[in-house]
Formats: sequence, structure tokens, C-alpha cells
Amino acid sequence: MSFYGCSLLSTQKFSLEKVTQLFSLTKTIESALINNSLEFSAQWQELLQQKVAMLVFFEPSTRTSLSFQMACERIRLPYINFPAFEQSSLIKGESFEDTLFNVAAMKPDLIILRSSKGNEVTDFLEELKIPVVNAGSGVDGHPTQALLDAYTIQKRLGSVEGQKVLIVGDVTHSRVASSNLDLLRLLGAEVAICGPEEMMPKNEPKWQEIKSFNNLETALEWATVCMGLRVQLERHNNKNGITTKEYSQNYCLNPEKLKILSPNGLIMHPGPFVRDVDFSAELLHDPRCAVHAQVTHGVYIRAAILVSILVEGMAS
Ligand code: CP
Repeated sequence: MSFYGCSLLSTQKFSLEKVTQLFSLTKTIESALINNSLEFSAQWQELLQQKVAMLVFFEPSTRTSLSFQMACERIRLPYINFPAFEQSSLIKGESFEDTLFNVAAMKPDLIILRSSKGNEVTDFLEELKIPVVNAGSGVDGHPTQALLDAYTIQKRLGSVEGQKVLIVGDVTHSRVASSNLDLLRLLGAEVAICGPEEMMPKNEPKWQEIKSFNNLETALEWATVCMGLRVQLERHNNKNGITTKEYSQNYCLNPEKLKILSPNGLIMHPGPFVRDVDFSAELLHDPRCAVHAQVTHGVYIRAAILVSILVEGMAS
């Protein structure tokens, strides 16, 4: 697996070596941006200024969309945002595929794509002949989120290897959980899930290989890292499942429940969270909480990904 000139669609093709190289570049970019020294990028700037990234978000986003735009600004990479649904020809009935063929026909150097389509469009995306970065695909994957999550764990706890990462909530509908499971295990963490039975994935073999808890207290005694998830009501077909009230009583991460997690543990959430349904905003004041650090790291990771894909020899 290489980054240069390639699409980044899934965590399943990552290698330990390439992720380590990407984290090293991310650290360099982070230090340079914190120290406000842009010399680090002098060798790339001329090249990047001649390129254009196209951000195509067919689903709503705050963190991923803005952090990719921020990353582009930081590395001086020109970018164009695809218009909102009502302003695009999607509203006239143009399909997902035809829309992307037309985007690709404008010859951007890279497409950053969020959509409700999952792995079923992987072959089609390869037909575009332009590197595509997956910025969230249906319930199947969110590889850049997994990378920033792993980078955050490494920064805050020293290493991903040996951590016991508990993912709490609507795992069935979470592309973040799926990508995190792949990547965190590659990096040597043990991963477990916790939530009501109807939110625990049943089919894919990779979920059968890991611990699954229904009781949050027991799970938190086991964990060193606790990662909450939003209940993705927009993806639920079954309206007869657990109520929001029952869910929040049993699984909302809050200061009372998190007393069980080790004082050296880490509290995470990819966002967005719904206050007092899946996450209590009081936890943002807990020194173990990394929620806003995750967002900050998203800019660095995404900058490193863009540079690695567009500049030869960076992490490839
Ligand atoms: N974590 C995440 O993907 O957030 P957004 O949907 O706001 O991009």
C-alpha cells in the first residue's frame, strides 16, 4: 500500500509501516503549524499551489469538511467545495455516478468524498482515475477519522499498542467504529464494544472476534480508552428498538459513569455528540477527555494525507 497518487478508501489496506510514516509526517506538520513556521513545507508549496482538491460532501459534516478545508489552507493547496444539494444538478435528478464523472472530467488532482454509499462503489470510484479520499462512506468506513483517533491515543497515552479501547453505542450504524476496529487492531490495541443488543453488529466476522459487553460498568473496568458514539437515528429502520431515554440511562457517557475508568484513561468521541443522549458536555472539562484534541489532530492528519497523496516521497 502506498499513499502517493493513490486513493485512500479503507483502513483495511493500511500497513503498520505506512501508518507509522504518516504519523511521523503528521507530527512534523503539527510542530510546524504550532510554531508558525511554514519553512517545513517550502519544498511542497510550489507543487501544491499548482494542484486543486475538490471537496464533494453529499452528506452533512462539520468536523471532516472544515478540517479538510483548514488543512488545504495550511498547506496552501487550492480547493473547491461542491455546492449544496439544492444548488447542484443533483436536484434535477443527476445520479451520484454521473455527478462524480463530471467532477472528475474537470480534472481535479484529488477528490475528497463523503456520501451514503459504502463499499459497493469502490470499483466505480477507481474508474474515475483520480485519487479519492474517503471522508465517510455510508456505514462502511471513515478512515481519516480512525487515523486521527489513533494519532490522538498515541499522543495522549504514548502508544496505541497495548491499549484496551472500548467503543460504546450504536456500533451497527457506525462507520467510525468499523474503521477504528481495523486500524486500532493493526496498531496493537485490543478493541471491545458495548451497547444495547440491537446496536451490536451481528454479521461481519471481524465483530465476532472481539469482546462485546452489554453492561457499561463492567466494560469500563476493562478499558483504558472509552470512545462514545452518536445514536444514528437517521440510519435506523426499526423504530421499535430501545428508546432514547433508556439508551441515555444505560449508555450516555457522563462524569458519574466515567468514575470507573482509570484516572490515566482517555475519553473520546468522534462527534457530533448529542448532549445527554450519548455524551455529557460536562466531560469536556475532564482532564482525560480528548474530544476537542481529536478535532485539532484532524487538521494535522488530513494535511499529512493530502501531502502524502500529492507529493512523491512523503509517506510512500
Ligand atoms: N466525526 C465526523 O465525521 O464529524 P462530521 O460528521 O461533523 O464530519
